Amino acid sequence: TFAAVIFDLDGVITDTAHLHFQAWQATAAGIGIAIDAAFNAQLKGISRMDSLERILQHGGKAARYDADARARLAAQKNARYVELLAGLDRRAILPGISELLEALAQRGIAIGLASVSLNAPAILAALGLTSRFNYCVDASRLRRTKPDPEIFLTACAGLQVAPAQAIGIEDAQAGIDAINASGMRSVGIGSDLQGAGLVLDSTAQLNVPLLQAFWSTQPR
Ligand code: G6P
Ligand code: MG
Repeated sequence: TFAAVIFDLDGVITDTAHLHFQAWQATAAGIGIAIDAAFNAQLKGISRMDSLERILQHGGKAARYDADARARLAAQKNARYVELLAGLDRRAILPGISELLEALAQRGIAIGLASVSLNAPAILAALGLTSRFNYCVDASRLRRTKPDPEIFLTACAGLQVAPAQAIGIEDAQAGIDAINASGMRSVGIGSDLQGAGLVLDSTAQLNVPLLQAFWSTQPR
């Protein structure tokens, strides 16, 4: 059976995607760029600076912002985001996740976190989940954002598990692509996800027997 499960954070462990959206929308509006929910879907799993690049491109303003101006916009977005995170606690853990983490730990299955968010450690702490994870990728050390497999390969290495022995769980297309490119098997949460080994509507459906059934139905 599988030796590890590696989780994305935003949209899998807790639903912060709408807070990223609100913060980006306000920052983008400040420089005359409108973004909607459909555009926001393309920012899921994408690092802060890469998200800003996409927003500037979307607004046709990429050439107008140099590195310093971009750093200021990214800092502004993050300040808003951190404000929106205030009050985050265990109640914000998505359905089924606490139970799944508990069941995986009981079975000795390694648990990893693969989030490109620099806020991930603070969010896990606010949710009271830090000690649940055997290894969390340090996003500040990554060279490439999802859909590059680097983050999932780093998580597998940190857990000392071969990618072929691991399942990744993601809510973003870039994340599913990253898992697949790493040689892991992918579980998608939500709709409009292409290429996932298994797609579920909600984290509430996640449990160990379901993951075991998924693992055994598609042998490598
Ligand atoms: C996650 C989210 C993205 C976000 C990224 C960086 O991957 O899905 O929307 O841009 O983290 O988050 P940060 O907290 O570092 O700005
Ligand atoms: Mg996500």
